[in-house]
Amino acid sequence: MNPKRALVISSSTAMQRTALSHREGGRRIGVVPTMGALHRGHLALISRARELADVVVTTIFVNPLQFGESEDLLRYPRNLEKDVELASDAGTDLVFAPSNEEVYPAGFSTYVEVEGVTGPLEGKSRPGHFRGVTTVVAKLFQITQPHFAVFGQKDAQQVVVVKKMLRDLEMPVEIVVVPTVREPDGLALSSRNVHLTAQQRSEAPILYRALRLGEQILQDGERNCDAVRGSMRDLIASRSSGSIDYVSIADGEELEESVDARPGHPLLLSLAVRFGTTRLIDNVTVVP
Ligand code: PAJ
Repeated sequence: MNPKRALVISSSTAMQRTALSHREGGRRIGVVPTMGALHRGHLALISRARELADVVVTTIFVNPLQFGESEDLLRYPRNLEKDVELASDAGTDLVFAPSNEEVYPAGFSTYVEVEGVTGPLEGKSRPGHFRGVTTVVAKLFQITQPHFAVFGQKDAQQVVVVKKMLRDLEMPVEIVVVPTVREPDGLALSSRNVHLTAQQRSEAPILYRALRLGEQILQDGERNCDAVRGSMRDLIASRSSGSIDYVSIADGEELEESVDARPGHPLLLSLAVRFGTTRLIDNVTVVP
């Protein structure tokens, strides 16, 4: 099968008008927000949307508002033509690919900020990041008028934060979460993986190995979360040149660090590790 090339829309007004007319026609709209540089992780989200929606909208926008000053905005990979082709093949009907000026015209001054769950983990390491994410996601939802949106478990805190925004602001969008897509050696697919040197690439699966080690120790009955964090840190430090940003075992909903694992209560094991200038994140959910 050779699916049709998606229609590419760059104007917010045109996108919103198109979405509203699909809604009036009774069609179910699913949106997949992305920053482009599409890989199999993104494509899994689009395939899931294809199964659930009448109209699949993939948004492609490298959102400057969610990058810190020292972060990789300028080296973020961009290739719209290739992305449109990949998104189309995975089942996208419409690509919304606006310019910076379209999303943030001169004088733009409204921001969406979720408190609490944005504090720890990525929020702590990347101040302002989630303010950028929630602002753009709220705006993308207004423009694409989705019934549901698909996000990856890869960015677990982002899912928690977006869900909190939807609850607090009564936004009627359902969130569908797709499991993390990995390379055969366990490394989670990420647009940032292209920046790894061959040596760093060979060490990068240590993130997932550390998560699996933590999971195994918890499943074996260890209740002391500090002990588990320690074992995960030791593995990374002894088997890679990566520098640990954080290793966390937190409550899966509030994202507060856990002291004791309680049977039946889901824990989010997550970590961020730097290899040179490339910062990788990963996570797994464990129910002890
Ligand atoms: P981006 O990093 O492009 O990711 C877009 C979506 O793809 C996110 O929901 C992310 O969790 C998911 N994703 C990335 N890698 C994945 C993998 N290996 N397996 C499964 N899903 C994966 O996340 C963002 O963009 C932005 O913050 C955005 C939500 C678009 C707002 O700007």
